[in-house]
Amino acid sequence: MTDVEAPSTAEMNADIKLITDNAERIFTWKYDRERDQLITLYNKAMASQWDSINDLDWATDVDPEFLVATTQRDNVTVELARAAKDLPGSPFKNWGEKEFTQLSIESLKATLSQFMHGEQGAMMVAAKIVETVPWIDAKYYAATQTMDEARHTEVFAKYLHTKLGDPYPMSPYLEEQIQVLVEDDRWDISYLGMQIIIESLALAAFGQMLRVTEEPLLKKLLRYVLSDEARHVAFGILSLSELYENLTSAELLDRQEFMAENTIRNRTRSTTPEIWERMGVSAKEATPFLMEAASTLDRSYFTGFQTAFFSKLVPNTRKLGLLDANDGHLRKLWGEAGMLEWEFADNTADDYDTYDAVAADRAAATTGV
Ligand SMILES: [Fe+2]
Ligand SMILES: [Fe+2]
Repeated sequence: MTDVEAPSTAEMNADIKLITDNAERIFTWKYDRERDQLITLYNKAMASQWDSINDLDWATDVDPEFLVATTQRDNVTVELARAAKDLPGSPFKNWGEKEFTQLSIESLKATLSQFMHGEQGAMMVAAKIVETVPWIDAKYYAATQTMDEARHTEVFAKYLHTKLGDPYPMSPYLEEQIQVLVEDDRWDISYLGMQIIIESLALAAFGQMLRVTEEPLLKKLLRYVLSDEARHVAFGILSLSELYENLTSAELLDRQEFMAENTIRNRTRSTTPEIWERMGVSAKEATPFLMEAASTLDRSYFTGFQTAFFSKLVPNTRKLGLLDANDGHLRKLWGEAGMLEWEFADNTADDYDTYDAVAADRAAATTGV
């Protein structure tokens, strides 16, 4: 008899979530290499694989207070709580620097937790693409992406676990986004939702954190994750632009609606309410004060982040031909939402190589620079 009991069904279910994938798996007999750009991308992916154990220095001592002093410098949640402190009846009225620093740490943990959960979602969607895409070059590439996403999930989980403490649950917004992509029976929708929307979003979020953080382990981790992500977005653009050249207007309209639905109409991203519980304030109590503070600061909750996101998303979507199909249907919708300002920013199919920090570090090591 062992002293460890098998988990009950209820315990098992608390640790997992079941999602049904409705897409058909495709086995192809065509092994000929036909897509030069995907071959190039696959070769780069193989050459730029990095090692989560040996390429990152996990012995780095991370001081959470030092970490948030730079990484969270412009954190909106903390800024709003500070502004809400002096409102009448504020739940933050007795807070001092200690509490605001702790909020900053919790807020960073919540963000890194969403990165971790999102990466697991990306791993599942990349694996789904391996199964559902009809082209051998794309199956090969998606297999490398699946490995990349495993490494990303692993490093965010390890950073949280060894340096910061307990992660937060997945936000309902992100959970719903990923569930829809895993369930969908159209193979290109997984690509469109993950490679074009969520990964453009990841490029923006990781890039924003990389620009401000001075903690060396997180910095290197983000540089390496970003260099993979840029390749993933390029993979989506190169594959889908070929497919979309041959779809009917009705099929393209469907994809344009998907883009509008998942960008404009979902612009309000939910935060992680559990942060407030850990800070001893209920989310319900905190929210009206944060909203009021937001109106007095005259600052939209996610402006900086949205700018970074749209500057990737819009040129990438343009490159797919989805802006102008059906008499510019998506161009009209995004134009009304003020998103076209970024139409001619660099698209990731053309600039992904500039992100390759792994290749840059290896070249520097070889030449001794
Ligand atoms: Fe990733
Ligand atoms: Fe990715």
